[in-house]
Amino acid sequence: MARRPMMAANWKMNKLVGEAREYIEQLLPRIEDAGGADIAVFVPFTALNEVARMTRDTPIVAGAQNFYYEDSGAFTGEVSAPMLLDIGAGAVVVGHSERREVFGETDEMVARKAVRAVSAGLLPVVCVGETKEERDSGGMWEKVSGQIRAVFDHLGDETSGGDIVFAYEPIWAIGTGDTATPEDAQDATGKIRGLLEEVRGEDFAGAVRILYGGSVKPENVGEIMAQEDVDGGLVGGASLKAESFAELVNAASNAKSG
Ligand code: PGA
Repeated sequence: MARRPMMAANWKMNKLVGEAREYIEQLLPRIEDAGGADIAVFVPFTALNEVARMTRDTPIVAGAQNFYYEDSGAFTGEVSAPMLLDIGAGAVVVGHSERREVFGETDEMVARKAVRAVSAGLLPVVCVGETKEERDSGGMWEKVSGQIRAVFDHLGDETSGGDIVFAYEPIWAIGTGDTATPEDAQDATGKIRGLLEEVRGEDFAGAVRILYGGSVKPENVGEIMAQEDVDGGLVGGASLKAESFAELVNAASNAKSG
């Protein structure tokens, strides 16, 4: 099944509202010909309202970098799915390794967030990936498969695959300049698709987009996008400048058109 490529920017904790506005102004004219890819920009909560407003009726989907799976109540500091939808967000990053490692998010919390995002109609980009130590000791697949299985322990039949995205982000490649080789990216994303097929069948597995993340930049995006099971990228550092993110979007848009 042909899957639509997706290129996603993860700004992390960067950009004031004015900077966000300037970025979207610069990005929009640069992606006019990128009709072959879905585009998402995951921005801090404080900039989300403005970015969602500016990207309404454009090919860009505004997204949050986190949310909480309850809809309202005594959860000081948290933001819910209805709140995100209310301001026009269409997607959310779930279980980024920085949230798992720095803020203690467990597989179970990540799974609940993924399920709530799907049921709310927010596209979740569920991040999975291993540390350097786990990879070096041969534990990559145990870690990654465990993170994915946890999601399917909770996810019901309400999704047919097109409304959930996974991002394979090896932690050792994030923000380090140390990208996984295209072969490593294919190996992991291919295994992930195999696991999706095992748990939900071929049609489901064929519909899910799997992104690669970890030091993606204009210089390496082509060889990464060329991998069969890589459907796009989740990009931190190289997404912070509109110009370089636009290059990545255009590369993704052209990558699978052959
Ligand atoms: P990076 O970050 O592109 O800066 O490595 C990717 C991510 O954390 O999503």
